[in-house]
Amino acid sequence: MMKFTLVSLLFVATLNAFAQEQGNKKMDDFITDLMAKMTLEEKIGQLNLPGSGDIVTGQAANSDIGRKIKEGNVGGLFNIKGVDKIRAVQKVAVEESRLKIPLIFGMDVIHGYQTVFPIPLGLASTWDRALIEQSARVAAQEASADGICWTFSPMADLSRDPRWGRIAEGHGEDPYLGYEMAAAMVRGYQGNDLSANNTIMACVKHFALYGASEAGRDYNTVDMSRLRMYNEYFAPYKGAIDAGAGSVMASFNEVDGIPATANKWLMTEVLRNQWGFDGFIVTDYTGINEMIDHGIGGLKEVSALALQAGIDMDMVGEGFLTTLKASLSEGKITEQQIDQACRRVLEAKYKLGLFDDPYKYADPQRSAREVYTEENRKIARNIAARSFVLLKNEGKVLPIKKTNSIALVGPLANAKENMAGTWSVAADFSKGISVMQGLQELMGQSGRVHYAKGSNVYSDSTLEARVSVFGKNTGWDRRPEKVLIDEALSAAGKADVIVAVMGEAAEMSGESSSRTDIELPANQRRLIEALLTTGKPVVLVVFTGRPLVLKWEHENIQAILNVWFGGSEAGYAVADVLFGDVVPSGKITSTFPQNVGQIPIFYNHKNTGRPLPEGQWFQKFRSNYLDVSNEPLYPFGYGLSYTDFRYGQPILSRNSMSAGEEIEIRFSVTNTGDYDAEEVVQLYIRDMVGSITRPVKELKDFKKVMLKKGESSQVSFTIDIEDLKFYNSDLQFVAEPGEFKVFVGGNSRDVKEAGFTLK
Ligand code: BGC
Repeated sequence: MMKFTLVSLLFVATLNAFAQEQGNKKMDDFITDLMAKMTLEEKIGQLNLPGSGDIVTGQAANSDIGRKIKEGNVGGLFNIKGVDKIRAVQKVAVEESRLKIPLIFGMDVIHGYQTVFPIPLGLASTWDRALIEQSARVAAQEASADGICWTFSPMADLSRDPRWGRIAEGHGEDPYLGYEMAAAMVRGYQGNDLSANNTIMACVKHFALYGASEAGRDYNTVDMSRLRMYNEYFAPYKGAIDAGAGSVMASFNEVDGIPATANKWLMTEVLRNQWGFDGFIVTDYTGINEMIDHGIGGLKEVSALALQAGIDMDMVGEGFLTTLKASLSEGKITEQQIDQACRRVLEAKYKLGLFDDPYKYADPQRSAREVYTEENRKIARNIAARSFVLLKNEGKVLPIKKTNSIALVGPLANAKENMAGTWSVAADFSKGISVMQGLQELMGQSGRVHYAKGSNVYSDSTLEARVSVFGKNTGWDRRPEKVLIDEALSAAGKADVIVAVMGEAAEMSGESSSRTDIELPANQRRLIEALLTTGKPVVLVVFTGRPLVLKWEHENIQAILNVWFGGSEAGYAVADVLFGDVVPSGKITSTFPQNVGQIPIFYNHKNTGRPLPEGQWFQKFRSNYLDVSNEPLYPFGYGLSYTDFRYGQPILSRNSMSAGEEIEIRFSVTNTGDYDAEEVVQLYIRDMVGSITRPVKELKDFKKVMLKKGESSQVSFTIDIEDLKFYNSDLQFVAEPGEFKVFVGGNSRDVKEAGFTLK
């Protein structure tokens, strides 16, 4: 029987491989035929991805872009919203250009389309591969109904610097977690069949290392050892590639002194030769032109360098469009290089099925039926609630009773435009659900909400104007600070509990939103101080796109719930968790520092030759600071529940293993509190001795378990030699024999330990 199954599996695999080969051959032949008809200009035109510019519905053909499309000078467009507009532009391409090649339509569908999910840093906090895949699936379903077939996501930039605003768009600081999350997103977007009309092509970005910009300042220089690239920062991109991402976006920064966009080692050697990527590579927005400022050459030179490096498509800058022909005639590039890039872009269109039906992603009926549906919003609400992280809950202030009287204060309490967070291109902010609306609807007639804004986001109107952009108005209140605070105090006077909704406005994180001071703005802090004088319990609900410095808040406020930017249903989800309809289970994937001076601070650091003994703050001539301990405020993997969990001692199925063998790690987890709840169980290892220094802990697996109150369950993980591998100084991926420690727990700090030997 076993034999039979094996044989039939082999047969199916061979059949699949055969079918794929036939499919590839069909695609190759089709593209070869098409390219034989293309002029050099038309080939270069396919490499051009301009912004959507001046397109107005009904006028597509007469617009500037329309003219370029007719001339065969455009390969695709991005960030146009609306099925009618997209159909109109596609019509120009397939009816009025000489070869009728369809356009590819991209968009930054980063965390949902019109139904918006939590920002990726929030999504990652669910530690739930299935939920993340589901969010991407819904995003693909909606986007593809509305004309989009290509998304500039997942953003796989590992980052350990919360000053960097774009930390919001990634999955945090861990290579393994980042790998898993990026892969889950690709599976969600692309499904099993890229040519289906409800799947879209993923574009993993920003390749590579963008999250390591110096001092957390956006677009800044990156300089990193190859060991760190391979062992840490590359992993999340690799996750997306291994999951089959169809395209890659180059990053703005330099890698080893050469801008990524012109870095042949990165784009060709690593991505294509080592990782086997066979899709197409697009630059980031004006990435080619920016190399002039990087100091690499003029537009003609940098465009040629990008093509030579392996870039296939030029976003916005038109360096390819305007210079490649001249470079070719000067012998700086070859026609084969242009052909190669053109072929890859055409292959993407072919794989998406655009040659069969250029309108397959733009079906007005589907758009009306499938975008922002009740069902999708329900999914978004569920995922949002599971992304929130309970940071503190002293005296079990939370959950709140629906029959309570609540003073709801703070600049984000009634801010529906700010719920979606950064990169919510397709969102309709007027439909956002504010926390006030969520609380009121869930309480109904049983309790009362007394609302007062209490403070602006910033007291400085210039700063507030800077983050009140893209329609995400913060509703600046001109009244003096004292008046706002008094109003909040008067609301507090009528209430049993104060819920203060504060933190960052949506545009305080994301692109070009780096900050050096990542505490709550001082005026918001003053509001909390005033509220604390009432002696009433205060619950701080923090909106943020990054780990904030919350030391003062941790020391002074009883309960803190970190809610990121939860998306279109955030207001309901916050209410679900505050009232205990959903028990919080999110865990942070990016360390929260005690102060900015500790940055970069991350759990998987090296030990150094002078580590500080555990539990101590300072010893002379040890690796530490005089003025702050080495501990983070909240460690990686941390997050509380309304219940408590107790972990049993891990038992290993064997205490030594050889290649080809496995070890099972088994332990109990018990829900010792009063609520049924989910717990994210985490597995870490430490390689005690290596040919290169190894991190003090590395996440190797995680699982979410649901436990009823009082319930105890056995949890197990299995590891084999693959889990112990790393890149050595020759950049070979190896496991080295020796001692390993194993840690299990509910965060990276509070763990139970065991050990084994690799023979
Ligand atoms: C960002 C990318 C984005 C692109 C297109 C750039 O500024 O860096 O992440 O995909 O714009 O909108």
